[in-house]
Amino acid sequence: MNVGIIGSGGREHAICHTLSKSKKVSKIFCFPGNAGTSFIAQNVNLDPNDFSELEKYCIKKEVNFLVVGPEKPLVNGIVDYFKGKPIRVFGPDKISSKLEGSKIFTKKICQRNNIPTSRFKIYESLNETLHFLKNSLFPIVIKADGLASGKGVYICKNFNDAKMASEEIFNGKFGIAEQILVEEFLDGEEMSYFIVTDGKNYKFFGSAQDHKRVGEGDTGKNTGGMGCYSPSRLLNDHLEFKIKTKIIEPTLNAISEHGGDYKGFLYIGLMIKNGEPFLIEFNVRMGDPECQTILPILKTDLMDILTSCCDGTLNKLKINFSESKSICVVLCSNGYPEKFENNIEIQDLEQLKPLENQNIFHAGTLKTEEGIFSNGGRVLNFVSTSDDFLACRVEVMNLIKKLNWKNGYFRRDIGHKVIKL
Ligand code: AMP
Ligand code: GLY
Repeated sequence: MNVGIIGSGGREHAICHTLSKSKKVSKIFCFPGNAGTSFIAQNVNLDPNDFSELEKYCIKKEVNFLVVGPEKPLVNGIVDYFKGKPIRVFGPDKISSKLEGSKIFTKKICQRNNIPTSRFKIYESLNETLHFLKNSLFPIVIKADGLASGKGVYICKNFNDAKMASEEIFNGKFGIAEQILVEEFLDGEEMSYFIVTDGKNYKFFGSAQDHKRVGEGDTGKNTGGMGCYSPSRLLNDHLEFKIKTKIIEPTLNAISEHGGDYKGFLYIGLMIKNGEPFLIEFNVRMGDPECQTILPILKTDLMDILTSCCDGTLNKLKINFSESKSICVVLCSNGYPEKFENNIEIQDLEQLKPLENQNIFHAGTLKTEEGIFSNGGRVLNFVSTSDDFLACRVEVMNLIKKLNWKNGYFRRDIGHKVIKL
């Protein structure tokens, strides 16, 4: 089978690498991919949000299965576009994708189904919002409703922070804002839990903890993710039972009642407080860098998982993970998440030879005739799996240091909560 992968980040390189090992996959096309995918797939410079162009290309090259990495094409209805056509698409349809595309839609589902989440209010004007905020306790969390590339969430320490956030949102920083979400600040420890579903059944697809802050000790600005470890240290059978029965099952039932058809990954972002799970957010895709961290410990053929979701036969498939731990450290361009330079050569990358238990997944990289160049804030993902987290991190550090890329920096403390030195 010829497979197409939509996206250009580390998540997509990890998916591409994993699928390239499947006997069921003949050729892989990446729309548009990165330098890493160009070694194992054909990169195609085409806008994957132009579904009709994508369809024409897929027909020409006999691509009959598409895997969607990022949320945008899903929220824009790529699955609905290809429905009834000979190209199968792994991902949730437009209705289901509202779980990520509209935070207010998700909050309303939580409210109707008693799904544990922070208390919230929805306002339709700046005046109303400010009136509420004047009498609120802080910290408080303010969110834009729609997709905002991870930037639409404000943790506000005082009224002034909250006023600025509300003004930015209502002034259109993330597109036209008819509503705003104001929610209670939850204190606890975060955890990401993943499932795959075929619309009827669902299966566990790993747990992880990412490190979003730029600085060591989880300090400084938020980023797309500086690294990650899997499994989460918080997961146990008791907590997992609560996550499934109180959050996942009521949500999947609610989506079916809305007429949605959910075939894909679901990322459940949680805050764990006194052993109780609270939903922070859903993403209708795998996480990045969680995907790069989890796929190296997946033992089942990924292509079998994706096709069984599309066929509605997930209940017949057993998904196995190895018992290993996994750590991913992200190498970023100096300056990220603020201003940084692109097009800096990454020398000697091809000379690095990862061991069997190691991977280097590309994110913001570009291959030209002259070599491999940086092309984004998050550039490379170094992953290592092992029996213990410390060994994972030591191996990752050794590999990154061997590369010694002068334009890059990385956090040395990924997994600090599971590594006691
Ligand atoms: P989101 O895009 O909804 O995942 O939010 C980004 C980050 O903001 C989350 O990973 C949390 O660290 C934080 N966050 C979001 N909502 C809350 C909340 N209600 N209480 C505490 N932290 C939150
Ligand atoms: N790691 C966070 C995300 O993928 O949204």
